[in-house]
Amino acid sequence: MLNKLTRRKKTVSDDTKKDVLHGDIPVHIAIIMDGNGRWAKQRGLPRVAGHREGMNVVRSVVRSCNELDVKILTLYAFSTENWKRPKTEVDFLMKLPEKFLSVELPKLIEENVRVRITGDIERLPEFTKKAVNEAVETTKNNNGLILNFALNYGSRSELMDAFKSMYADVREGVLDEQHISEETVTDYLMTSGLSEPDLLIRTSGEIRLSNFMLWQLAYSEFWFTEVLWPDFDQENFYEAIQAYQQRQRRYGGV
Ligand code: FPP
Repeated sequence: MLNKLTRRKKTVSDDTKKDVLHGDIPVHIAIIMDGNGRWAKQRGLPRVAGHREGMNVVRSVVRSCNELDVKILTLYAFSTENWKRPKTEVDFLMKLPEKFLSVELPKLIEENVRVRITGDIERLPEFTKKAVNEAVETTKNNNGLILNFALNYGSRSELMDAFKSMYADVREGVLDEQHISEETVTDYLMTSGLSEPDLLIRTSGEIRLSNFMLWQLAYSEFWFTEVLWPDFDQENFYEAIQAYQQRQRRYGGV
């Protein structure tokens, strides 16, 4: 039975789906999945219960992206700053990729999804690395949705690493400093090869970027909702895309 704190997950009608499919579908959607801790606290549960529920929402968002033929979905799953959290919470978060992939990988393969990781995975525990590397390897030839997990990712350190690599390449004569362009910087980022997000969604009412894709989000459309990530449902996801479809992207022009 649903208790008063459980928000019934809403799905959208076939008519809404058709309407949305007639509009411009964002090629790349990036999501800051926020509010798991508050969701759990509201229910008197440990914070990790929010993360577990949040993982289930990932499943449903992946399904919606497939339905709409979104090409890239980037999910901010663990930031370089999240190491500051209590050890029990970090340990739990580190288990989620393995937990998720042990159930979902066969389905992702069936759905032609390609798993990709953006972030420094070297610092992750062996079992996390193993699970994500296996998913990346097994799905590398798939050409459907790219499911890009930002794991141990921080945009400033990504940019610093890119600048250091460019500097080293200039010194070694591999890169000509006269020819460094915006495209060059883009190519040195961890997201090299991926188009920039068209739409950024952040849940839980926080209006900030939290060190997420600072370069890549320069011209993205932003959509914020008060809904906490574990409550985020198909209706909310479509709402975000419908809002995106109303926007006029001018990229600094008129
Ligand atoms: C932010 O909410 C959320 C995170 C730091 C973790 C997000 C991870 C998931 C949703 C699961 C990911 C699933 C896979 C498969 C890797 P918060 O804890 O900061 O919430 P609060 O602001 O309410 O405390």
